[in-house]
Amino acid sequence: MSTLTPREIVAELDRYIIGQDNAKRKVAIAMRNRWRRQQLPESLRDEVAPKNIIMIGPTGVGKTEIARRLSRIAEAPFIKVEASKFTEVGYVGRDCESMVRELLEVAVGMIRTELQEGLTEAAREAAERRIMEILLPPPPRTAQRAFRPSDPDSGDEAPAPTTPAETAEARTRDILRKKLREGQLDGREIEIEMRDAATPTMMQVFSNTGLEEMGVNIQEMFSRLAPPRTKRRAATVGEARRILEQEELQNLTDMDRVVRLAIERTENSGIIFLDEIDKIAGRGTPGGGPDVSREGVQRDILPIVEGSTVITKYGPVHTDHVLFIAAGAFHMTKVSDLIPELQGRFPIRVELASLEAKDFARILREPQNSLIKQYQAMLATEGVTLEISDDAVERLAQICQQVNEQTENIGARRLHTIMETLLEDVSFDAVQYRDGVVRIDAAEVDRRLSGILESRDLSRYIL
Ligand SMILES: Nc1ncnc2c1ncn2[C@@H]1O[C@H](COP(=O)(O)OP(=O)(O)OP(=O)(O)O)[C@@H](O)[C@H]1O
Ligand SMILES: [Mg+2]
Repeated sequence: MSTLTPREIVAELDRYIIGQDNAKRKVAIAMRNRWRRQQLPESLRDEVAPKNIIMIGPTGVGKTEIARRLSRIAEAPFIKVEASKFTEVGYVGRDCESMVRELLEVAVGMIRTELQEGLTEAAREAAERRIMEILLPPPPRTAQRAFRPSDPDSGDEAPAPTTPAETAEARTRDILRKKLREGQLDGREIEIEMRDAATPTMMQVFSNTGLEEMGVNIQEMFSRLAPPRTKRRAATVGEARRILEQEELQNLTDMDRVVRLAIERTENSGIIFLDEIDKIAGRGTPGGGPDVSREGVQRDILPIVEGSTVITKYGPVHTDHVLFIAAGAFHMTKVSDLIPELQGRFPIRVELASLEAKDFARILREPQNSLIKQYQAMLATEGVTLEISDDAVERLAQICQQVNEQTENIGARRLHTIMETLLEDVSFDAVQYRDGVVRIDAAEVDRRLSGILESRDLSRYIL
């Protein structure tokens, strides 16, 4: 789990997201509270419920962006799901509980990687042994060796070889191993036996029938019944090393432990970001139609947020302490359109502010991945240097605000279309500017965009 303090979390978010300080603070506090709770004595720990958050704000002001950045720094199982993709139980689509299964999958992956970090050396050695065996199969004469612990290398520490043939063989082995380690044999082709990952088609037919919803993996069930299948294939020594290392790493991993830790971590520090929650708001209207199902989705989500047990293929997961952060534009609906029980489970509300020209200018310039930096890097691959002057940035930001006001307010997303239109010619003819500098100042911005701006209709479609 992340040990960052709220201040540090906000600082990290600041690198990518401009403004929205209030939302950043609330999110940071919620994250920190996960850590604080872990430090409590057990009796108290169970009492502390996570303070779920709803972020409300117009389109394109950074809600999803905050989630994406948060996921990088959370160091906890984190998933972002669109509430709109779930359907009521019984309808075609994903049922709500699948979000918990997905979260657990993330945790499993995370813990597996963590545990495997300590095993890479052992896996590397095991793979090397297997390759050595292929390159230089143990001579049949040393049949007794087979009775020693399976490690073929153990022959080296065994009583010194007596016959000259054995001494010679040991020496060859040493030379070969040295070459192998130095990578001199990487290009050589050998034949290896590896686990066969390919699935018979019949089982693939099965696995599409929604069993995944139950958390059952037919494929795995079958593969546990049947002995692991192997196949032989040709590979260079370099490839073989990669493949076998991976395989040995899997063999060495204690999956039971991975699952146990993953469930624990999911339950205690998992975070689910429920995006587009406004899309499921709205009570069922008497007329029926899709709205009825929306309310059904809310009812299905409720127990998960409230704390319940979800059955997964790894075992039951309790959701009582999973943190939920919801976000929605709430253009057509209001938070009060959610069913009251669900509203109650999101005690913290935070509004994100609409963005204005001064924000747009900063968004163009400051974030580490700002649009201008992206275009500069993309064009640099073709030897073009792109320079956008300060007054050009100001002008672009004004245009962005103007178009947002005149047509629809889509927030910072508008910058993408504006920049794309501005740089279309340069992007198209980048080769012509090779090794040159493209300078864009305010006048140039006006020259390229004013025609479109003057016509409301044009700007509606193009910008
Ligand atoms: N405050 C901001 N700082 C930096 N970039 C931003 C900001 N707000 C939005 N952006 C940029 O605008 C784009 C859209 O933002 P985002 O996906 O967060 O919108 P949203 O708030 O989730 O909107 P929606 O309600 O439509 O889902 C992102 O690619 C992001 O780069
Ligand atoms: Mg979004």
